[in-house]
Amino acid sequence: MDKVVDIKSVSYTYPDGNQGLKSVDLTIYPGENVAMIGPNGAGKSTLLLHLNGVLRGNSTVEICGLPMEEKNLKEIRKRVGLVFQDPEDQLFSLSVFDDVAFGPINMGYSESEVKQRVTQALEWVGMSGYEHRSPHHLSVGEKKRVAIATVLSLNPEVLVIDEPTSNLDPRSKWSLIELLKQFPMTKIIATHDLDLVRALCQRTVVMDGGEIVADGNTEDILDDIPLLKAHGLAPR
Ligand SMILES: Nc1ncnc2c1ncn2[C@@H]1O[C@H](COP(=O)(O)OP(=O)(O)O)[C@@H](O)[C@H]1O
Ligand SMILES: [Mg+2]
Repeated sequence: MDKVVDIKSVSYTYPDGNQGLKSVDLTIYPGENVAMIGPNGAGKSTLLLHLNGVLRGNSTVEICGLPMEEKNLKEIRKRVGLVFQDPEDQLFSLSVFDDVAFGPINMGYSESEVKQRVTQALEWVGMSGYEHRSPHHLSVGEKKRVAIATVLSLNPEVLVIDEPTSNLDPRSKWSLIELLKQFPMTKIIATHDLDLVRALCQRTVVMDGGEIVADGNTEDILDDIPLLKAHGLAPR
């Protein structure tokens, strides 16, 4: 079967010497919904940043069969939509329309195609009618939705989201989970939110200290209390 993500012994050390990842192997197949869990500093965000080439170590990363190389970056970024944990890192325009249009404009789509993609993406996240609002004057939940729309407007095959429900109140959180559930594409989600994991992901990968320490069926992983305790993830 085709692999959406194929990573072999990826290590990454930040310029200040901090080791973010240690020899990580990960394969993800089309249509999977994969949760990445682990304590703060486990390396979840560092790994996600490797999936569309924001970070590149001396490693073997293939996305949808494309090796992570300069010449494939544009195509990879079209296929992998990466939503940062902090919407402020994703939203920088004066209007919601401009932020959601940024990717399609960059890809060189026509004006009418751009407009259609923005309309569609905002509809998907339930934010139609917000086109002319300032992204910075939205609620956290609305910002998260617009941040997701900025990648949906490229129609990605893979949605990679870093802590989608952090800082959300319970109602916003559950409505975001319901929204994500409706998206058909492959999803890779870094989170501490075990409700989200149970509701959305059949597979769970546990990270700690820059390494993958477990990878399996979500129910099995979340029922493994000693495993969760060992990695700072147990409810109490
Ligand atoms: N920009 C950075 N510069 C230096 N070290 C970093 C940077 N970002 C993350 N790290 C370090 O890399 C490790 C993994 O961090 P991160 O991937 O952010 O973990 P997580 O997302 O699981 O909380 C941690 O030790 C963290 O301190
Ligand atoms: Mg993180």
